[in-house]
Amino acid sequence: MNGTNLVDNRIASLLLLVGVLLFPVRSAFAFPEGISGYSGQSGSVCTVCHSSGAEVPMVTLAAESGMTMVEPDSVTGYVLTMVGGPAVDAGLDVAADGGVLIDTNAAGTKILNGELTHSSPNAVAGGMKTWTFDWEAPSTEGTYFLDAAVLSANGTGGTGGDGTGTAMLMLEVVPEPSASLLAGTALVSLLGMRVRNRL
Ligand code: HEC
Repeated sequence: MNGTNLVDNRIASLLLLVGVLLFPVRSAFAFPEGISGYSGQSGSVCTVCHSSGAEVPMVTLAAESGMTMVEPDSVTGYVLTMVGGPAVDAGLDVAADGGVLIDTNAAGTKILNGELTHSSPNAVAGGMKTWTFDWEAPSTEGTYFLDAAVLSANGTGGTGGDGTGTAMLMLEVVPEPSASLLAGTALVSLLGMRVRNRL
């Protein structure tokens, strides 16, 4: 009786051990299908696993309108661009510390835990890749940050020989930029010019 239990226990702990050993391997295999938590917003980027050493891509993050002041609850478009690095395929992780990120790419990306990431390694042509997304601003006024980490990969599927680049965009959520105030300022300077011209 006791002997059998002992064997059962041993088998059970062996299975547990195998499970524990397999788990990190299985989760690592999931990364080419997207990753969150490595945009740089919490400090770490792709270099935690993708050893540096390869040429680093130049990464830029910009508002489509060129405006970094947006109204509460508004939805605005952004473009993330990667130039250079091994550039065979690429992946990304974009995070916002408020509001909601919306995926606007035709294919190859998804939202994972609120962050924009690749759904499979994205093919790169001509050493350059761009992604788009929308950001729905929070209703609370304030300063918010979009952080992006991009991996310019060599297409071997592994973590070696890939270059990581990062970009950040600071956004101000402010109430409706008062049009009357802007018009008022323009009128005042116009009047000022007329007065000066007369003197
Ligand atoms: C915790 C470890 C880890 C982190 C952090 C990580 N990756 Fe990976 N990634 C891997 C592993 C492991 C592989 C290879 C998996 C395989 O062989 O299937 C991989 C593969 C990839 C590939 C395919 C590479 C190729 O050569 O085709 C892309 C693209 C990718 N990761 C993007 C990213 C991006 C973008 C980040 C940062 C935002 C990132 N990864 C951060 C572990 C990680």
